[in-house]
Amino acid sequence: MLTSFFCCPVCGELLVGERTLTCSNGHSFDKSKYHYVNLLLSNRSAGKRHGDDNLMVRSRGEFLDKGYYGPVRQAVLDVLRACAVPGMRLLDAGCGECWYTAYFAAELSEFAPHVAGVDISKDALRWGAKRGGVELAVASTAHLPVADASCDAVLNIFSPPEIREFHRVLKPGGVLIRALPLEGHLWALKSAVYDTPYRNPSPETSLPGFVPLSRQDLRYSIHLDNQADIRSLFTMTPYYYKTGAADQAKLQALHNLGETVEIAVLAYQKITEPNNVSAS
Ligand SMILES: C[S@@+](CC[C@H](N)C(=O)[O-])C[C@H]1O[C@@H](n2cnc3c(N)ncnc32)[C@H](O)[C@@H]1O
Ligand SMILES: [Zn+2]
Repeated sequence: MLTSFFCCPVCGELLVGERTLTCSNGHSFDKSKYHYVNLLLSNRSAGKRHGDDNLMVRSRGEFLDKGYYGPVRQAVLDVLRACAVPGMRLLDAGCGECWYTAYFAAELSEFAPHVAGVDISKDALRWGAKRGGVELAVASTAHLPVADASCDAVLNIFSPPEIREFHRVLKPGGVLIRALPLEGHLWALKSAVYDTPYRNPSPETSLPGFVPLSRQDLRYSIHLDNQADIRSLFTMTPYYYKTGAADQAKLQALHNLGETVEIAVLAYQKITEPNNVSAS
């Protein structure tokens, strides 16, 4: 019987199985035909939008596959390599369509890692499953279906920052890796669409329950030389749903965009001092 990365969302016991995952208390969860399992309890999902929709997911997949964020992925891989151990358990919390996750599973294969991804969007996981190498569950980063102190590393790449929950699932000494936009990230796109674009706030460097391990600020230029890529970049961001038709139309006229990527890759190590994880 295969042991899953995931725990039962009802009782917290470990799940086992292949097509159907079950716990020792008899709760069971069928995998979808796309090979992810839905561990989102309905009372936690009622009335909420479930993460990124198919258009955002498709746009992100197409944009990322062009390699524009290759240096970001490489920077995260460098941190993972530095902390990798045989049989390491790696969780991508808010994995999206697994452009990062599947790559790490392949690149770290010499360590025979157990790699899992969680996202609240079924559309994202349908895409993610095609990339392979990652065990996938629909779940919220706020209630990870993952045992306490069971992960060697957790990824938080442009996904909701549930720091307390990440701390709970990490082993003592485990590593949290975050990728966050810096102040001027995607400034050209924002300037093209908005009359008064705003700069992102500086990322928080100290986190309760963690000590900082490393920080790399990536700043580089990309050149988008076609409408499709410009459109994909815009549609994969939350700006898409917050922007009116008139501002969106400004993008149609653009066929070239020199853009600035500004992303911080931050790594933290879990410490276990009491009273240190009350905030998230
Ligand atoms: C900006 S995307 C990043 C995806 C991926 N990490 C990447 O960088 O390509 C944010 C992701 O977080 C997911 N998400 C949003 N809220 C979530 C939640 N409460 N729990 C789990 N995933 C969530 C979205 O569905 C989306 O896939
Ligand atoms: Zn159970």
